[in-house]
Amino acid sequence: MFTFEELLEKINTEIQKRTQELRKKEPLRLYEPVDYTLEMGGKRLRPVLVLLSYNLFSEDVSKAIPAALGIEVFHNFTLLHDDIMDKADVRRNRPTVHKKFSENGAILSGDAMAFLAYEYLLEIESARITDVARLFSKTALEVCEGQQLDMDFETRLDVTEEEYLEMIRLKTAVLLACSLKTGALLADAPEEMAKKLYDFGINLGLAFQLQDDMLDTFGNQETFGKKIGGDILANKKTFLLIKAIEMANSEQSERLHYWINKEDFIPEQKVKEVIAIYNQIGVQQQIRKKIDSFYLHSLEILDELKVSEDLKNPLKSLSNKMLQRVF
Ligand code: IPE
Ligand code: IPE
Ligand code: MG
Ligand code: MG
Ligand code: MG
Repeated sequence: MFTFEELLEKINTEIQKRTQELRKKEPLRLYEPVDYTLEMGGKRLRPVLVLLSYNLFSEDVSKAIPAALGIEVFHNFTLLHDDIMDKADVRRNRPTVHKKFSENGAILSGDAMAFLAYEYLLEIESARITDVARLFSKTALEVCEGQQLDMDFETRLDVTEEEYLEMIRLKTAVLLACSLKTGALLADAPEEMAKKLYDFGINLGLAFQLQDDMLDTFGNQETFGKKIGGDILANKKTFLLIKAIEMANSEQSERLHYWINKEDFIPEQKVKEVIAIYNQIGVQQQIRKKIDSFYLHSLEILDELKVSEDLKNPLKSLSNKMLQRVF
């Protein structure tokens, strides 16, 4: 049985090996942003979840590495395009690819990463490879659907909590769930257990995206690695904004709508004013409650999984780490 740290080390070593190979490839301008993205790290949650899930049933985690790698490269690809769509300048405390290189570069290197992800996935040596590839394709399509909803919601004011939860299920939770289920499939776990791990991942993923939304407004730039206030500037329909619109009194509602509809503004001022309204309404407490409820539900699902408690501990401690509140 491996700890989270041991598995993280395995993933990082493997990614380093792969980036070294990529550095030799041409054209340089296609592969340099790929290398830049992969070597700047990130939390590596998804590949570690693949290995942790696999390790619940089987000890030889090296068999799950290609899938873990494929999913992490796919995740990094989505970030390249997401940062263009969200006009984000900073990620992991470094300039985003479209800022450092070019927008076209980020589009094309992102495309290359999507196919690279498939190449890594096809290195799987298991009879379950088709099941894994099918789940991966379905998940990738769902992520696109979630991203489209996220953009559609920018210009709407009547987005409901239910619609928001469905949007984040698609753009974020399904990939965490897919990581966990992939580990289970490769280890030939019973279907019922693979499904439980998937459901655990959905709830963990919902809590994780809610937390990401909270930190985008109330976090610390240094630890978060992204610019605070990006969601506010893009009028993203986060849980915070949806709750604020729902709970505001008429004066707060008028100020909120003023900032949402204003076309010319000083970014820092909009962020400051909207945060002030959020604080008055107390939406941070609301989002914390929601995060806790999904997190607790994810743990309940994990409790139902019929493997020994000892084996579940690394998974529990990673979920706890993921949802530690860093300010
Ligand atoms: C960022 O994911 C996108 C979201 C789904 C919130 P992560 O927070 O896992 O990003 P990295 O890979 O650790 O940078
Ligand atoms: C990202 O959601 C989900 C995907 C990249 C698919 P966000 O737009 O909130 O992610 P960050 O905050 O930029 O990492
Ligand atoms: Mg986005
Ligand atoms: Mg974004
Ligand atoms: Mg975000």
